[in-house]
Amino acid sequence: MNAHAPSTIRPVVVDVHLGPGDLDTALRSDILSGLTTDPKELQPKWLYDERGSDLFDQITRLEEYYPTEAEREILLRHAATIVQRADADTIVELGAGTGDKTRALLDAARDHGRLERFIPFDVSEEYLRSTATTLAGIYPGLLVHGVVGDFDRHLTRIPRGGHRMVVFLGGTIGNYSTAPRAELLGRIVGGMTPGDHFLLGTDLVKDPARLELAYDDPGGVTAAFNKNVLNVLNRELDADFDLGLFDHVARWDAHEEWMDLGLRSRVDQRVRVAALDLDVEFAAGEIMRTEVSAKFRIESFTAELAAVGLHVEHWFTDDNGDFAVSLSVLR
Ligand code: SAH
Ligand code: AVI
Repeated sequence: MNAHAPSTIRPVVVDVHLGPGDLDTALRSDILSGLTTDPKELQPKWLYDERGSDLFDQITRLEEYYPTEAEREILLRHAATIVQRADADTIVELGAGTGDKTRALLDAARDHGRLERFIPFDVSEEYLRSTATTLAGIYPGLLVHGVVGDFDRHLTRIPRGGHRMVVFLGGTIGNYSTAPRAELLGRIVGGMTPGDHFLLGTDLVKDPARLELAYDDPGGVTAAFNKNVLNVLNRELDADFDLGLFDHVARWDAHEEWMDLGLRSRVDQRVRVAALDLDVEFAAGEIMRTEVSAKFRIESFTAELAAVGLHVEHWFTDDNGDFAVSLSVLR
């Protein structure tokens, strides 16, 4: 990518900090605490096994799920400005997924001529490997160094050095509630040096009817994505969840300003999680939370960023005002 680098495809490096053994240990301890707490709550990171990642990819193509196209519109329109302002030689992307929208930034960075290294970071190893390989093929000369890890444990393992722009797209920051989000932002900033930039996608507060449709599409893709976490528990922890006995629920919480996603038990039932030697009771109507998806307001979120030392240089929004991308600099 660097104007002086040879235009050859460089070998992809992938560091795995969440191998099968670590994943198993983390899953067991998270699920044990999530199923024994009241109300029950599973962490959204467990939604993204290979099938879950495929289902999320399908969600991004749904008419009802507006965030992906809104963010793409913003990136396509403003990528040149963003890469010029950041002037980074290293882009780190958190929760890169398919890296689809990232290409708008990488195209602009190729034109800008300063980018040397791209570091995608994700909990999903299959997706990370395929994204890293695809992007290395599209951008000859770019060093692609993938990291498989968990935002909550492995951000310190991201290779250091370089003048960086850390990119966190899709509104994934909204999958953290307020206090854990402040901690996550603190950890992200901990890996940056003053003058580095942070590019963040945030979904905005809007009409609850549109939000509920976006998170409960009539075709049932989001329901399948949500219920798939039960397949993960059945497969990985030898559990016997019957997916037919749970309903997908997606409700707007006007006080918290987040979408609250969960699985509601249709009946009184007992589920066995053999690998944890655990029997879990569900009452009819009981909802186990699987994810929150917070929606933001520009003013209050500017203050959240300022609290960790990030000064917003630009807020970019789509024409509809549905989604916002902030470019901030660490002071
Ligand atoms: N950035 C992409 C994908 C968003 S989906 C987009 O904008 O479309 C959220 C991504 O974050 C998934 O790829 C998922 O595997 C990853 N992810 C979720 N929780 C994570 C965690 N705790 N640590 C690391 N990656 C995580
Ligand atoms: C990844 N994350 C930003 C998505 C969201 O919109 O909160 C996950 C998702 N859950 C249901 N639909 C999409």
